[in-house]
Amino acid sequence: MALADQTFGFYIPTVSLMGVGCSKETGTQAKALGATKLLIVTDAGLSKLGVADQIKAQLEEAGLKAVIFDGAEPNPTDTNVHDGVKVYQENKCDGIVSLGGGSSHDCAKGVGMVIGNGGHIRDFEGVNKSTKPMPPFLAINTTAGTASEMTRFCIITNTETHVKMAIVDWRCTPNIAINDPLLMVGMPPSLTAATGMDALTHAVEAYVSTIATPITDACALQAIKLVADYLRPAVANGQNIEARDKMAYAEYLAGMAFNNASLGYVHAMAHQLGGFYNLPHGVCNAILLPAVCEFNMISNPQRFGDIAVALGENVDGLAPVDAAAKGIAAIRKLSKDIGIPAGLTELGVKETDLRVMAENAKKDACMLTNPRTATLDNVIGIYKAAM
Ligand SMILES: [Fe+2]
Repeated sequence: MALADQTFGFYIPTVSLMGVGCSKETGTQAKALGATKLLIVTDAGLSKLGVADQIKAQLEEAGLKAVIFDGAEPNPTDTNVHDGVKVYQENKCDGIVSLGGGSSHDCAKGVGMVIGNGGHIRDFEGVNKSTKPMPPFLAINTTAGTASEMTRFCIITNTETHVKMAIVDWRCTPNIAINDPLLMVGMPPSLTAATGMDALTHAVEAYVSTIATPITDACALQAIKLVADYLRPAVANGQNIEARDKMAYAEYLAGMAFNNASLGYVHAMAHQLGGFYNLPHGVCNAILLPAVCEFNMISNPQRFGDIAVALGENVDGLAPVDAAAKGIAAIRKLSKDIGIPAGLTELGVKETDLRVMAENAKKDACMLTNPRTATLDNVIGIYKAAM
């Protein structure tokens, strides 16, 4: 996010570990951060599979202590956060390890902010509301999509209002982000597809964002190339370690891009579908992405042409608008190939809800950096086009 009209801040974790087996370094890295007893924040699924115990054993091998809190639910709530805070305090922990996808990382960010600053997680809704640092925080990622293991975004559901609170705070960026493809091989094809399309959406929205910079552009284009080359193989065979590794890089690069250039109407509109129907974020993005691109395309056909090239399309001799159209068609083809539903109707979305969702999408912070201004009717029209 630009700090002022002419300046730009770039936010990423201090250390990021990538590559096959890198999660083995968790203990050493936690020790290097000065932690002695860590709260492992994860979800019930990973806990049952024994992955949390595996990480606990690695920490103990390094001479550290660890306690598992597996109460991070999908779309984590303020209650989840404060349950985690209680376990942290009761066990006198002095550091946090999050293990999982976006829900575990977001819940852990919430725990860390409350531990560091006191108060209630609801106090931190908005931009940079914390005033004190978090405890040492390592984030181990097991999906290739949200990039929450390396961003400063934390989304927590307010159980009183049922609204998803957006907490954007550089202090909740994990100190160390760990992306080990060996922890991603267990993802089923549908989750691989949905999270991969979330990563592609991050990259595309960041590339055409009104606050994109040469740094975020480089990250976004490389992320798009990697998704184009490796998402299909990762969906086809979850054990394909090269595809898993490259998708981990893709989601991380896309994270670097949107953590700094923000997003656009795909996310603004997908958030409403998530809130209304509790639909998976990645699937909503995948369906909305081509429809939003079609609307946005006239804002900068050249940029959409670049996206087509990054997706592997041959645009030689084409006018920018035609190149852009080829890119949008390539996104549709990718979604189809990996089994994403064709439209929102298939997901049970009703025409009668579109107006309210469009009104809420226009208030979502993600729309601020969308490259084309949209009226309420425009937003309804995009939803309709994606039905
Ligand atoms: Fe996303």
